[in-house]
Amino acid sequence: MTLPTPMPDTPHTSAAPFASPSAAHAPTTLRAWVCHDYGGAEVLELQTRPGPTPGPRDVLVRVLAASVSSADVRIRTQNLPRGFGLLGRLAFGLARPRQPVLGTDVAGVVEAVGRDVQGFQPGDAVLGVAGVAMGCHAEYCVLPATKPLVHKPARLSFVEAASLPFGGLAALHFLNKAQVRAGERVLVIGASGAVGSAMVQLARHRGALVTGVCSAGNVALVLALGAHDVVDYTAQDFTQTAQRWDVIADTVGASSFATCLASLNEHGRYLSVAGSLMELLARPRGTRRSIGGPAPERVQDLQMLVDLARAGALQPVVDRTYPFTDLPAAHAYVETGRKRGAVVVVAWPEP
Ligand SMILES: NC(=O)c1ccc[n+]([C@@H]2O[C@H](COP(=O)([O-])OP(=O)(O)OC[C@H]3O[C@@H](n4cnc5c(N)ncnc54)[C@H](OP(=O)(O)O)[C@@H]3O)[C@@H](O)[C@H]2O)c1
Repeated sequence: MTLPTPMPDTPHTSAAPFASPSAAHAPTTLRAWVCHDYGGAEVLELQTRPGPTPGPRDVLVRVLAASVSSADVRIRTQNLPRGFGLLGRLAFGLARPRQPVLGTDVAGVVEAVGRDVQGFQPGDAVLGVAGVAMGCHAEYCVLPATKPLVHKPARLSFVEAASLPFGGLAALHFLNKAQVRAGERVLVIGASGAVGSAMVQLARHRGALVTGVCSAGNVALVLALGAHDVVDYTAQDFTQTAQRWDVIADTVGASSFATCLASLNEHGRYLSVAGSLMELLARPRGTRRSIGGPAPERVQDLQMLVDLARAGALQPVVDRTYPFTDLPAAHAYVETGRKRGAVVVVAWPEP
């Protein structure tokens, strides 16, 4: 589902082979957005940097589309859920980002493959996850064999492909951890966001009865994604109703296990996708429990998302696209916390 955007889809929608047949032909320089400090979007600077040197097990991808995710903004601003401040600095760099080129997800074309790589050829259209290693906000990125990389189905544009992994992998992981079954009642807080819009669809696909929590302006979107009903959080507090759910997934950190406890059925699971350290450490209360932590980067999960998207069971939700040259504007929009689904940057201009 591509929402009305201020930019047309990327013009690079063909999988035409590129010239470079091997890692020896990797570019000597590339343009990349460098996050040289923590702070506002102004800390992002477009630079020309030395080209990558892919190893024998690496795939070099020419980046045609990359998501600008809430994780990119969290890393740049260091606005992390409560309790994660020091851990964030230790993970990402004490004084400034250790990996200064952000960007966790990529869709593009394989430019070159290392000699030990199997299953990919120069010219293949792919989508991949650099994850916490990042580096996708550049003309080219290197994905080691340990990172999820799959072929892009023709049905998906590069923009749609780049929009899938961030929200989709998190939603899939948490639904799996909660072992959501057909017939269970699932409430998704933040149902219009990247994680939430994927979770609504994936839970519905499993046969769950889905309630989406969103604002009035996003009700139509969330119902179109498959929610059976919605709660407008600006008008109603679901914890003050008599309704109960088997699973409550908070994808935006707007609640806590404690405040949702009375809204959970026996054996209910609270999914703390974006919660504080306290939520992560929350102990079970009777038969009810809280589930948190980071979603892993697994190729089988990415392949499952792609298969579901190919089958039409998972619609990519793309709010806005921006040209790569406007990456700070994309960051600023994501930072509002109001985006619907994903924001994607596309189409580096010819150098
Ligand atoms: N644990 C993990 O491994 C993992 C993985 C991925 C992401 N995350 C975390 O998950 C969080 C969500 O990421 P995201 O990219 O999905 O966020 P997002 O797309 O930026 O979320 C924005 C959406 O949330 C809605 N929203 C905001 N406040 C809300 C509220 N109180 N109730 C209901 N909806 C609300 C907004 O709608 P309105 O404008 O209508 O309010 C907007 O559509 C982030 O904190 C991210 O760091 C964690």
